[in-house]
Amino acid sequence: MRVVSGIQPTGNPHLGNYLGAIKRWTEMQHESECLIFLADLHAITVYNEPAQLAATIREAAATLIACGIDPDKAILFNQARIPAHAELAWLLNCTARVGWLNRMTQFKEKSGKNREGASVGLYAYPVLQAADVLLYQATHVPVGEDQKQHLELARDIATKFNTDYGVDLFTLPEPLIGDTAARIMSLRDGSAKMSKSDPSDMSRINLIDDSDTVAQKIRKAKTDPEPLPDTVDGLEARPEARNLVGIYAALAGRDMKDVLQEFAGQGFGAFKPALAELTVETLRPIKARLDELMAHPQEIDRILEQGSTRAASLAQPTLDGAYKALGLPNKR
Ligand code: TYM
Repeated sequence: MRVVSGIQPTGNPHLGNYLGAIKRWTEMQHESECLIFLADLHAITVYNEPAQLAATIREAAATLIACGIDPDKAILFNQARIPAHAELAWLLNCTARVGWLNRMTQFKEKSGKNREGASVGLYAYPVLQAADVLLYQATHVPVGEDQKQHLELARDIATKFNTDYGVDLFTLPEPLIGDTAARIMSLRDGSAKMSKSDPSDMSRINLIDDSDTVAQKIRKAKTDPEPLPDTVDGLEARPEARNLVGIYAALAGRDMKDVLQEFAGQGFGAFKPALAELTVETLRPIKARLDELMAHPQEIDRILEQGSTRAASLAQPTLDGAYKALGLPNKR
């Protein structure tokens, strides 16, 4: 079993990133070989201020460590330090079909009405993502629900490459999507996912928010006037309520049914303070550790450098195999 997953180092990671992905990585690193990376080559598919990018890469790495990623257990690195990601992405661009990419919903959402003005990189983004996992022969990829389509594409690309060139080079990666936290929703709108790009900061809880801000965001989160039901089915037409119960359950490591048994019949006047307390207690040590780590930026750079050396040596055989399968003489 080899686990590979990544996060874009733009903006502050939020509770959706934490519960949908990061927390699960910290659990998996104890059982499996894990490669966790900052997707900085994905970040540049939209304009990013260069002077800030280097700083946000370091900060994102520190955040992952503060959340519990142990660089002695998991291999932690950033994509840009390993040329093999961009190299394999090019080779796979020639296997992926335009029709497949045209179906990617994230490109449609991100490019919006200005599709002609989107970068080619934004369009080819899922192919780079396929390269990220195929390069390391990932067997499992823990992600939130929004990445499922990209991973299905990675499987399609791997299958077509293996078939077209008559090789058994790429392992088909299995997406691992959690139950309760697969899609954490905005605090302002139960039909939109919690996202870094939402213009309202009140829609998300950032991992670096202080305790008062967290409590305020939860207090102001959209809800309905009904008390909490005693079964998960009772939340069906109540997306905001469902989201808050889901967040509570994921933070507490309990299932929603269990949480509802505790709070059934109570209104949000009682539930929200309990949720705020649990969230604050979870984030407090993360924030404290992050502050400590950010005091030693050169140490973060050293960790990323070391991680990229380890990752690069795992990537090379697959990249060499791809060149060979294609009949391309290369330097190595
Ligand atoms: P990114 O940076 O948007 O998000 C990182 C991880 O957080 C999950 N996530 C969520 N989970 C639950 N609820 C939410 N509201 C929520 N928002 C985000 C995402 O599903 C993701 O798992 N394209 C990827 C980065 C990437 C990658 C990869 C991931 C690049 N190459 C290879 C896996 C494998 C992205 O932009 O994630």
